[in-house]
Amino acid sequence: MAKSIVIEAKKVSKTFKLQGQEIQVLKDINVSVHSGEYVMFYGASGCGKSTLLNVICGLEPPTEGELIVRGESLYGKSQHDITEYRRSKIGIVFQQFNLLKSLTIQENVALPLAAGGENFKRRMDRAAHLLEMVGLTKFLRRRPPELSGGQQQRVAITRALATNPWIIVCDEPTGNLDSRSADEVMAIIERLNSKSKRTVLMVTHNPEYLHFPNRIVYLKDGQVDKEVTNREVTAEAEKTNEKLDLDLRDLLRDKEEK
Ligand SMILES: Nc1ncnc2c1ncn2[C@@H]1O[C@H](COP(=O)(O)OP(=O)(O)OP(=O)(O)O)[C@@H](O)[C@H]1O
Ligand SMILES: [Mg+2]
Repeated sequence: MAKSIVIEAKKVSKTFKLQGQEIQVLKDINVSVHSGEYVMFYGASGCGKSTLLNVICGLEPPTEGELIVRGESLYGKSQHDITEYRRSKIGIVFQQFNLLKSLTIQENVALPLAAGGENFKRRMDRAAHLLEMVGLTKFLRRRPPELSGGQQQRVAITRALATNPWIIVCDEPTGNLDSRSADEVMAIIERLNSKSKRTVLMVTHNPEYLHFPNRIVYLKDGQVDKEVTNREVTAEAEKTNEKLDLDLRDLLRDKEEK
């Protein structure tokens, strides 16, 4: 079966201008991500991992090259279309959780649904439902600073899943967590890939995580240094992304059984 490519970065370069100087952060990057795949971007601090993820998510335009999503180039698309691509297709999880401190946990999870046109009550109901599935019901009306780091990151993952995206993009999601919470978060993301069949892009510099993905893209000084395949994506995983219907219960079963 031919592998279906979800996202392709073609000859992507990125240059920032800083105090009149140009800094080239990404140089001629070619990366393809297949449906159902778990790809890890690994490399030293400052090598350009976050910048590459931001380009892939449409948060930053590349200076050169293009990004092709399901065979269609983002080049020349309006900002509105690019934002819609990101909002509906990609769930993003950051190291700093990025929850809004003034909103409740439930409101935070409901937030990405606001752009989808659903009314307030339905958005809040869906958020409550998702939070119930991840075992965070008792925190619905609390605010982020009242939760532990691990709990906040689980809220952030739940928020990223609210729009039922194809792709989960994680930038050092365990960077601010103690090792137990970090293991829990990595296990949730692993199950998102293996059980819920989400395509996962993960940035890390933690070598302990190198066994998780199907493929590791090693980055060095803004370039792809090498790619290593741990295992091929299965045909079953390839069938995914079209008919996604999230079952978070699946992700939490292990936790409930403990
Ligand atoms: N907006 C910006 N303006 C100028 N330079 C930037 C900008 N964003 C990133 N850089 C520079 O690009 C380089 C790569 O940054 P990036 O954040 O992509 O690295 P990283 O691999 O994610 O590092 P870390 O592991 O520390 O998060 C760094 O030298 C950084 O200073
Ligand atoms: Mg980074």
